[in-house]
Amino acid sequence: MKNTKNAGIAGRIEELKKKHNAVIIAHNYQIGEVQDVADFVGDSLELSQKAAQIESDIIVFCGVHFMAETAAILSPQKTVLLPEKDAGCPMADMITASDMREWKKRYPGRNAVCYVNTTAEVKAECDICCTSSNAVEVVESLDGDEILFAPDKNLAAYVARHTDKKIIPWDGYCYVHNNIHVKDIEEKRRLYPEAEIWVHPECRPEVIDIADEVFSTGKMVKEAKETEKKQIVLGTEAGMTYRLKLENPDKEFFPAKDLAFCFNMKKIDLNKVLTSLEDLKYIVEVPPEISQRALGSIKKMIQIKGVKK
Ligand code: 13P
Ligand code: SF4
Repeated sequence: MKNTKNAGIAGRIEELKKKHNAVIIAHNYQIGEVQDVADFVGDSLELSQKAAQIESDIIVFCGVHFMAETAAILSPQKTVLLPEKDAGCPMADMITASDMREWKKRYPGRNAVCYVNTTAEVKAECDICCTSSNAVEVVESLDGDEILFAPDKNLAAYVARHTDKKIIPWDGYCYVHNNIHVKDIEEKRRLYPEAEIWVHPECRPEVIDIADEVFSTGKMVKEAKETEKKQIVLGTEAGMTYRLKLENPDKEFFPAKDLAFCFNMKKIDLNKVLTSLEDLKYIVEVPPEISQRALGSIKKMIQIKGVKK
């Protein structure tokens, strides 16, 4: 760690991790200084798998609330800490448990898929979860020709292009990805004519239409190492470039939109990680009855055969 002040804080974090038998996991959109102290950095699916496997007493989850909840559901015996209690996901708040119950009543007999970007209460009401890296496989694994898909209408539209099933979408979206427009991509194509364009499936269908590839953040990490391309434009949260630049110093990465920031993901910094470990806050707990039902939806996702990992 270059910065001496940060090195001091990072050292203290290391001591506290040992003292409490804690591990730090961070989403790919977290700020650099947080990724630097994390034991594991990944996408939503990788983080939920990691949370289930990790052998520790405490998980410090650097991400947003629904992710920490998923970790708490998968590891009820561990203490899950979210260093910033107000780090939420506006898309996850676009559907409530009662919305989901009403929706299922309106479409009886259909399976309901919910993106992991939902609250534990919503996960408890749906049939199976998915992430951006396995949504198509999850839908394909289900019986029935019509599937309810919530809350992201853009991810739903992406899935609909890759399955013969009829996808009935909820009207939600991620403000960060939905705010990346065709003109942003065209502008970057003009600036970097040699670059390949990779976008996240939470982007608008018309943006997906003009992209070269559609990848979850985890897939972007893997492909960045393998591609022969030297310049890549990323249609996703702008912070994604941090890890990719660090791991691929011979390549250049540009955000499709410079201001595509998820403000909730940016609420956690090194000081908050330290305070979280010092004061053991903020504990994320899910009531057992909800946790048990949500676990069913998450486990079904993790266990389906052929699911991309
Ligand atoms: P993934 O990490 O699964 O690609 O999801 C991106 C995201 O928006 C997380 O909130
Ligand atoms: Fe939610 Fe979008 Fe932020 Fe992900 S990037 S946490 S979906 S608002």
